[in-house]
Amino acid sequence: MNNRTFTMIKPDAVANGHIGAILEQITSSGFRIVALKMTQLTVQDAQEFYAIHSERPFFGELVAFMTSGPIVAAVLEKDNAVDDFRTLIGATNPAEAAEGTIRKKFATSMGENAVHGSDSDENAAIEAAFHFSGREHF
Ligand code: RTP
Ligand code: MG
Repeated sequence: MNNRTFTMIKPDAVANGHIGAILEQITSSGFRIVALKMTQLTVQDAQEFYAIHSERPFFGELVAFMTSGPIVAAVLEKDNAVDDFRTLIGATNPAEAAEGTIRKKFATSMGENAVHGSDSDENAAIEAAFHFSGREHF
């Protein structure tokens, strides 16, 4: 699955009314939407999804934030999807994100940073399977 990545529009960006603008920036940057849904993570979902960060000091905050409201989950397709999408979203801390990136435009803080992007092909496949069944990929 090296031409696919997984993203979530996080609760801050959904609450701030940025779903449409973010999806527009994603598709106009050459990504095709393969799967898409609006949903809300349970605490158990968020703990499992972010298990890699379970020992980090911000884990409790991260789980609380990611379960605080609805998200939009999507699988995206493009050549070099994982790396190109990380470039499109910008640095984790929006204060350090490049001009024009999604986090620069729509994120408010390091914790509430508007979007998630998978960090490897392997994790993209795991994360897509976490949220979508085979018949939800188009
Ligand atoms: P993401 O997984 O959401 O795409 O973000 P990322 O790769 O850029 O950053 P990562 O290191 O994977 O961290 C996951 C999310 O945890 C929150 N975080 N808070 N307060 C902090 O120091 C801190 N560090 C990370 C962010 O919401 C980050 O996106
Ligand atoms: Mg990450």
